[in-house]
Amino acid sequence: MSNDPLLQPYQLKHLTLRNRIIVTAHEPAYPQDGLPKERYRAYTVERAKGGVAMTMTAGSAAVSKDSPPVFNNLLAYKDEIVPWIREMTDAVHEEGAAIMIQLTHLGRRTRWDKGEWLPVVAPSHHREASHRAFPKKIEDWDIERIIKDFADAAERMKAGGMDGVELEAYGHLIDQFASPLTNELDGPYGGSLDNRMRFCFDVLKAIRARVGDDFILGVRYTADECLPGGTGKEEGLEISKRLKQSGLIDYLNVIRGHIDTDAGLTDVIPIQGMANSPHLDFAGEIRAATNFPTFHAAKIPDVATARHAIASGKVDMVGMTRAHMTDPHIVRKIIEKREEDIRPCVGANYCLDRIYQGGAAYCIHNAATGRELTMPHSIAKADRRKKVVIIGAGPAGLEAARVAGERGHEVVVFEAANDPGGQIRLTAQSERRREMISIIDWRMSQCEKLGVTFHFNSWAEADTVQAENPDVVIIATGGLPHTEVLSKGNELVVSAWDIISGDVKPGTNVLIFDDAGDHAGLQAAEFIAKAGSKVEIMTPDRSFAPEVMAMNLVPYMRSLQKLDVTFTVTYRLEAVEKSGNELVAHVGSDYGGIAKQRTFDQIVINHGTIPLDDLYFELKPASSNLGEVLHDQLIAGRPQTAWRNADGKFQLFRIGDAVAARNTHAAIYDALRLVKDI
Ligand SMILES: Cc1cc2nc3c(=O)[nH]c(=O)nc-3n(C[C@H](O)[C@H](O)[C@H](O)COP(=O)(O)O)c2cc1C
Ligand code: SF4
Repeated sequence: MSNDPLLQPYQLKHLTLRNRIIVTAHEPAYPQDGLPKERYRAYTVERAKGGVAMTMTAGSAAVSKDSPPVFNNLLAYKDEIVPWIREMTDAVHEEGAAIMIQLTHLGRRTRWDKGEWLPVVAPSHHREASHRAFPKKIEDWDIERIIKDFADAAERMKAGGMDGVELEAYGHLIDQFASPLTNELDGPYGGSLDNRMRFCFDVLKAIRARVGDDFILGVRYTADECLPGGTGKEEGLEISKRLKQSGLIDYLNVIRGHIDTDAGLTDVIPIQGMANSPHLDFAGEIRAATNFPTFHAAKIPDVATARHAIASGKVDMVGMTRAHMTDPHIVRKIIEKREEDIRPCVGANYCLDRIYQGGAAYCIHNAATGRELTMPHSIAKADRRKKVVIIGAGPAGLEAARVAGERGHEVVVFEAANDPGGQIRLTAQSERRREMISIIDWRMSQCEKLGVTFHFNSWAEADTVQAENPDVVIIATGGLPHTEVLSKGNELVVSAWDIISGDVKPGTNVLIFDDAGDHAGLQAAEFIAKAGSKVEIMTPDRSFAPEVMAMNLVPYMRSLQKLDVTFTVTYRLEAVEKSGNELVAHVGSDYGGIAKQRTFDQIVINHGTIPLDDLYFELKPASSNLGEVLHDQLIAGRPQTAWRNADGKFQLFRIGDAVAARNTHAAIYDALRLVKDI
């Protein structure tokens, strides 16, 4: 038996958890019709297979129709959910893991124009900034109805074979009652702490009465809103004690902070560049004060920190939620003493940011997550060993090399630069985005183990490639900044990459014209502003940096607003002219009728990349498929069989930005999807 603190079993009432690592509630937005169908089940089961002790499925499964699915939540109010839940719980139990589900009423944290278009309810009219609905002040009959809805939903979940349910209180209706900031009710549910907690206890009592004692019940709540006038630490401690003393629940799941704004949410769930485990000590204080089973998750991305969380006795169960989106097999790798093989979560938050834009959660560098029905987390060996030559060691090229190596092929990679990483190496120039380099480092160490041959500093020509006698050639050469977007003066501007790489020194009065709207524009702005220069970001879009998304924007804004960077939306830079030492920007608008002239000493363009595809087109005539990718085969997960040139000696493919400017996830998905069948 291992003496690793993380691998010790934990007895939670009647439930034996096989180790100390859990996946906390998170809605990956995979439901179909509000139900956990095949895709949802496959995702959940993968983590159970990987060894986690318990997976808290769903984030915020909705108990009522006036808690509409604002990020494609499960609908726990539907009776037809029960058989789907049963299939999932049976499959998870078969893998030896426990499974619970988080239930909620979102209160004001939703929108009225979703689901059944019912008015949003909350204990006050105060709107939540993130979701924007002005709520109706909740009435007595709403309260009765919702309490019953919680109990009905819990009963459905028990019937579906769940080991228990957790109430999502923080930021949702239950804590909207508890917080003085969002509760303006008179009468039994407003005013004193007793009254503000009444709703939570009424819900818990109603659930317990329905599900009995042999069912785990927990609450995930904020024990300190970190907001003036809100639930502070002292009251949070009191709430924690009362929850324990109620005898109604079996554990506490501690949150610190508030989630009503993007900034608040990002402090609760920190992203890359922010401190690791920022609330762990706080969770430890709650555990010490209550002496009650305590769960906690907030950027504990690595095994060492998780081990510390358990060994130090700060928590009983440690959440590694995003870490399991990046690598569902963490526990198995710990048991097999292969911690170095764990694919690291880099805190990019592509997963979470996407669900707030209505998309499904995907991991920036594990394209199999959420695609378990079609993409493997473990790559199978190929029947025949082939020689695969890859040009480019950016994220696409390295993923292709890793997957080809796992398939058992002989793999050779040519890279023009001294180091691997491509655009990610540039991204990691920013202190805050340094964690991104693990996307590259992990792949390099995996490739090393797999015996991949690398030629750095090596500009591959068609001859070099053909001299290798490859069976397959993959062009992953990426792109170069595309700045030729002006009607005049393209030679007078520099690219965002020029600034980030340090190749061009910042000017003193700088315009960044950003119509790519991705990280590069904001990163360049931060570099320039930190050098003490004046920076204006201009975009023709309705909002700036639309590709950066909500939580990723937070650290930028915290930095850029302090540096007094200004943002100008809905204007387009059309041309640039030189006038003495100055640059004159000719500014128009897609809405028409505008022609302004502005003066700067440096103009930076961020307009994505243009593919670096010369080698691809040189090699194309010599290939057997003439570069063709059969989309039906690609999508169905079958080997590529295009045959267009009888004289061709190798198959030729290109992936990532060498095809068209996209993002890291797309590059890695291109590689995995293609190479897993080579
Ligand atoms: C895609 C996604 C959806 C989430 N949805 C919920 C949710 O509905 N309810 C909840 O309590 N937490 C939710 N979370 C937060 C996680 O449970 C966890 O607290 C958070 O990710 C921090 O832990 P980590 O750093 O280990 O990922 C979500 C997280 C992710 C990544
Ligand atoms: S997208 Fe980023 S934060 Fe989310 S799981 Fe993947 S690496 Fe972690």
